[in-house]
Amino acid sequence: TNQFATTICCIGAGYVGGPTCSIIADKCHDVLVYIVDIDQTRIDQWNSDKLPIYEPGLDDIVKRRRGLNLFFTTDVDTAINKSDIIFVSVNTPTKKSGIGAGMAADLKYIESATRRLAQVAQSSKIVVEKSTVPCKTAESMRAILESNSKPGLRFDILSNPEFLAEGTAIQDLLNPDRVLIGSLQTPEGKKAQATLADLYARWVPREKIITMNLWSSELSKLAANAMLAQRISSVNALSALCEATGADIDEVAYAVGKDTRIGSKFLKASVGFGGSCFQKDILNLVYLCESLNLHEAADYWRQVITINEYQKKRFIQRIVKSLFNTVTNKSIAILGFAFKKNTGDTRESAAISLIKYLIEEQAQVHIYDPKVEEEQIFFDLIEPGVYSNENQVLHKVKKLVKVHKDAYSATLNTDALVVCTEWDEFTNLDYQKIYNQMRKPAFVFDGRLILNSDKLRKIGFNVEVIGKVAGPVTVEN
Ligand code: UDX
Ligand code: UDX
Ligand code: ADP
Repeated sequence: TNQFATTICCIGAGYVGGPTCSIIADKCHDVLVYIVDIDQTRIDQWNSDKLPIYEPGLDDIVKRRRGLNLFFTTDVDTAINKSDIIFVSVNTPTKKSGIGAGMAADLKYIESATRRLAQVAQSSKIVVEKSTVPCKTAESMRAILESNSKPGLRFDILSNPEFLAEGTAIQDLLNPDRVLIGSLQTPEGKKAQATLADLYARWVPREKIITMNLWSSELSKLAANAMLAQRISSVNALSALCEATGADIDEVAYAVGKDTRIGSKFLKASVGFGGSCFQKDILNLVYLCESLNLHEAADYWRQVITINEYQKKRFIQRIVKSLFNTVTNKSIAILGFAFKKNTGDTRESAAISLIKYLIEEQAQVHIYDPKVEEEQIFFDLIEPGVYSNENQVLHKVKKLVKVHKDAYSATLNTDALVVCTEWDEFTNLDYQKIYNQMRKPAFVFDGRLILNSDKLRKIGFNVEVIGKVAGPVTVEN
């Protein structure tokens, strides 16, 4: 009845669903793509000039296909009914209360999307789990679909975890290391798996599309994120040792990474990893191990998070110690608020815990990030629903925190600048100019190892870098 070969619907217009399904629309003009969400504001943003997420290259793709074979809508039911393949990419945050609070994934959004699907579907569908979920979630989805749908309909559930990283999402989607599709090893399961594989094969080489059983696929996603995070915690644990011994973490990581069995990527010491995935997925894995009585395995993975917390705390302590053991009434510039460069996403960003500590200590905080909106910064620092006296906290944060439009304005008359995010523009600032307008002695704390400390020391800064011993302190009048 229409000119399209296939119709797909993506439930959840977030960081994963939005870019992934926009790429499908761009690569397959004969596929009609609906991206749906219950959040009207988010859908309005997807339909506007300013998309709800910043991701290099995404704007062009969305603008190219929107209104042709790519549609953003809150009409979830209609989109489901028209579609042959349904991607479920709703959020799966860590549970805040109840059994597994603080650890287990909260599956209420997956469940309600699945129930909606069961209720409204008039024909058989392939249902694709895109969100990161605990191993065996497909089983629950199948139970919900089979017991709530019209008789005679079939639902084949596939696991197709997304491995894109924010900031490089488009490149990762266009040229993935692998596409993973898990299914039940039944003839119908394998047929559905082949259908999805054919879709990806429109732009991904066949040898990169790997298929396996459903549970392996679900677990692989958690395993990949846990092992990536573990590399960062390993290098960060070594950075503490470097600071104490005079070894240099960049040199150590370089030497270690040259071993092809280890590899050089993802070994950058930092103020601690953030983002919506690592902590959540490890907690998820820990919870899974605990619930299966595998306590030693749970303890092993839990340690990755312990080291990450330790790293954030160490950096804060180093800042305070260098600033003569008190930051009260000092003025501190924070360069970077996003959890990594090239994204406006702030979820679990190390900058948040650092700034909260500075606020506790009554420091004046001046923040600049190229892509994070002021509103988001205050939202993260105030965290509605957490404090007992929200008005008091709001007042305190508003009084102590100021958000700036550029790095020069943020550093004016401050005692220290702290690099929290590795934005490229921070390496090219005019540090002489910044030094001249700061209070003396002026301090730089590099939480990302991106600045040239020798050059900064020549200008007159006291420079402290993660994973390197403290530089000589030059106190000027
Ligand atoms: C991650 C995974 O990389 C991706 O495959 C998965 O699909 C989702 O989770 P993302 O969280 O978007 O992606 O970003 P990533 O590049 O992995 O960075 C995560 C955090 O680790 C950031 O805070 C980053 O700054 C930090 N990091 C990364 C380091 O501190 N050092 C490194 O060497 C690499
Ligand atoms: C190791 C380092 O590889 C080498 O670089 C260093 O110089 C000395 O220590 P070696 O102990 O000789 O070398 O052997 P290696 O191949 O690393 O294996 C060590 C142990 O790990 C063996 O028992 C091996 O069976 C086991 N192993 C290795 C695994 O169980 N799984 C693997 O994937 C790799
Ligand atoms: P991710 O980083 O996993 O993509 P996001 O939070 O960015 O997560 O996006 C998930 C999106 O899913 C949100 O925009 C949310 O409103 C949407 N969502 C959650 N539940 C449903 C549902 N039942 N139907 C449609 N959209 C949903």
